[in-house]
Amino acid sequence: MILAVESSCDDTSVALVDMTGALFFHRSLSQNDLHAPYGGVVPELASRTHSERLPYLVETAFSETGLSLDQVSAAALTVGPGLSGGLLAAISFLKGLCWSKNIPMIPVHHIRAHLRVAMDPTLVIPRESLGLVVSGGHTHLYRIREWPDLDLVGQTTDDAAGEAFDKGAKALGLPYPGGPEIEKQGRLWDGPLLKFVRGIHTKNPFDFSFSGLKTAFVGQVRQAGGDPSRVPQFAASYQSAIVAHLVSRIEKALETFRPPALLVGGGVAANDHFRKALEILCDEGGIPLHIAPRPLCGDNAVMVALTGLELFRTGCRVNSPYAEIRPRPRWDED
Ligand code: KG4
Ligand code: ZN
Repeated sequence: MILAVESSCDDTSVALVDMTGALFFHRSLSQNDLHAPYGGVVPELASRTHSERLPYLVETAFSETGLSLDQVSAAALTVGPGLSGGLLAAISFLKGLCWSKNIPMIPVHHIRAHLRVAMDPTLVIPRESLGLVVSGGHTHLYRIREWPDLDLVGQTTDDAAGEAFDKGAKALGLPYPGGPEIEKQGRLWDGPLLKFVRGIHTKNPFDFSFSGLKTAFVGQVRQAGGDPSRVPQFAASYQSAIVAHLVSRIEKALETFRPPALLVGGGVAANDHFRKALEILCDEGGIPLHIAPRPLCGDNAVMVALTGLELFRTGCRVNSPYAEIRPRPRWDED
């Protein structure tokens, strides 16, 4: 068994998979309600909540499955990139737990985990594939030279795509996290869409930028004076503009790199409008598309478990006293 933990942002998540990757347990406790009043994640509150909830979740994993720590071959956990307090909460807890039974630990890279669950974990990710992670913290486009080595080819120059959804939702008076709320409201509208900006320019053609769009959107929402009947049209238009921008940059990257596959993960990849737009784009370009299953788009421990299992098979593990296991909040830069 692999025991896996994810705590890099505001979801405390625990999973158990066996050595074939079959899932025995998965549960996530979201902190959305706690952070909602602040309109975004408060790092101190997140780390304290992870520390409180993690022991309970791990205990539940064993009590509900009837499995025991003695059956665990390794514990996989996200060590970065992410918020250092949350990463440290899981590292400290798991080090104590693993030390008691001499269980090796496997450090997992959060972005690679998002990409790994985009494709069937029994399949090899083809060299030179493109990988996109779109979430509240990331809008990053990678060339996967040879898995798990990633080369960043484009990223947001300001807000992440999920952040743009969250800020737009706030302007419309919708709760956090805003992406699912905008999607829900957008479904109520099938009339003409509003335009917010003429074009979005970035120096690097594979970069993304959402702040101009967000500012123009917030301005038009203010002008409308909080009329609740306008919310569906605003939501549908804003969603469509964000998706169109994402797709325009991905299209350019597909034409340039002609990758053997496109992998997509992260919370925003759960968006139906985005998924459909990607399907059409990849279909037209004849490029195989692999998007994470909806329940595994956001942060979750299953992606950590499956990435950890793959690493375990290649011999990657850290034995007690686990000196190499430390938070790497900026893994790609340190
Ligand atoms: O990957 P994730 O759970 O956490 C990190 O940020 O790492 O992503 C959360 C983000 C939030 O900004 C949320 O608004 C966005 O993903 N999101 C969505 C949808 N579901 C979640 N955005 C658009 N449409 C959705 N259905
Ligand atoms: Zn994430």
